[in-house]
Amino acid sequence: MLFRSWASEVGAPWPDVATVTDHVGVPHLVVTRHALVRQVLADPVAYRPDNALDAVTPMPVTALRVLAGHRFRLPPTLANNSGASHPAIRSIVADALHPARVAAQRPWLTALVRERVARLAASLDAGAAVDLYAELAADLPLLVLARLVELPDAPVGAVKQFARAALELFWAPLDPDRQVALAAEVGRFHGVLRDFAATGGGLAAELRKAGHAPDVVVGALFFLLVAGQETTSQFLTLLLHRLAGEPSVLTGLRTGEVAVADVVEEGLRLEPPIVTWRRVAAADNMLGGTAVPAGTSLVLWLARAGRDPAVVEAPDEFRPGQRGSRRHVAFGAGAHRCVGDVLARMEAAVVVTEAAPLLDGVTVVRAPWCPDNLTFRMPDAFVVRRG
Ligand code: HEM
Repeated sequence: MLFRSWASEVGAPWPDVATVTDHVGVPHLVVTRHALVRQVLADPVAYRPDNALDAVTPMPVTALRVLAGHRFRLPPTLANNSGASHPAIRSIVADALHPARVAAQRPWLTALVRERVARLAASLDAGAAVDLYAELAADLPLLVLARLVELPDAPVGAVKQFARAALELFWAPLDPDRQVALAAEVGRFHGVLRDFAATGGGLAAELRKAGHAPDVVVGALFFLLVAGQETTSQFLTLLLHRLAGEPSVLTGLRTGEVAVADVVEEGLRLEPPIVTWRRVAAADNMLGGTAVPAGTSLVLWLARAGRDPAVVEAPDEFRPGQRGSRRHVAFGAGAHRCVGDVLARMEAAVVVTEAAPLLDGVTVVRAPWCPDNLTFRMPDAFVVRRG
């Protein structure tokens, strides 16, 4: 269950808090109820974020050597930083992703998506099958992020490959040979980031100006490139796939009876790209009547919390605007809550507005396939054709 939690049967009962053991024998405490997930996220003293980026399959010495050979380091920077430096680093990243800066990207993104949608519509009209992941969603978030934070001038394909390798290396069940191969990929790109962190403009320059160490600049860029763009392209793909199976929502969007923003929120609630997120207990605690010894790894099942019947009227149904729809925890909560939420929502709103009409009357040729992963969905394709 742990690595395919998103595939767990809709509506199937699940305890509020339960111990689950992973493939290498490590016990994790899985937390499902909305109130308990929020309780943990809201208390960074009792439940620290230190393990957020720990490899769920411990790395063998061979893979660690490969990473060391690339001088790979991931110091506490953003998501895994419970130290005093977190607020200052977060605030510089938040400035780069300020809602006004995000809004300024909207016209450019809209034009780009419109152009792609026109091309895809022509292909569909001609009877061809199109992949809405590869041909629409995959690189959009990276292109926007590059404009916002001035990323290194690396080819889009190389960044996507590195980001997916990192999500696999840190969050998938793996064998040692695969870990070594992934470590080589991740380590190599880390070198690219190190060079850029030392000389690049935009966010890198702001962090350097504020006196942050080179490792911190690399750590921030690493996290943004992995979580800041890959999550959103996954979400866009999952949302489009979900909408293809929701004809009444598509009709509502067309007639204007359904608001795009409500569709995005219901999508985040039911199809979050990050299904779980981790915390570690800093001391012996009690959670919902369960004892949580210090050092316990907590797996917060964000996707399940979004379907908690205590919060949402019709938990398993895609009903934009329903009671509780916006109370999902897809972006986490508390001191580490996602700082890219405004950006992700803007991108999703543009894609739904422009691309939803493409989905009218299509047949799904190939639904997204997602590999085993504790946290990320990582859909690989979404192919449709007309009729
Ligand atoms: C649909 C897309 C996205 C989802 C579902 C998502 C979800 C999350 C989650 C669950 C966390 C952990 C929150 C916690 O520990 O309470 C997080 C943290 C973070 N996210 Fe996102 N995210 C998305 C997009 C983005 C984007 C577009 C960016 C930036 C370009 C971004 C940047 C960050 C950063 C910097 C953090 C760490 C914040 C901190 O520790 O202070 N995310 N995100």
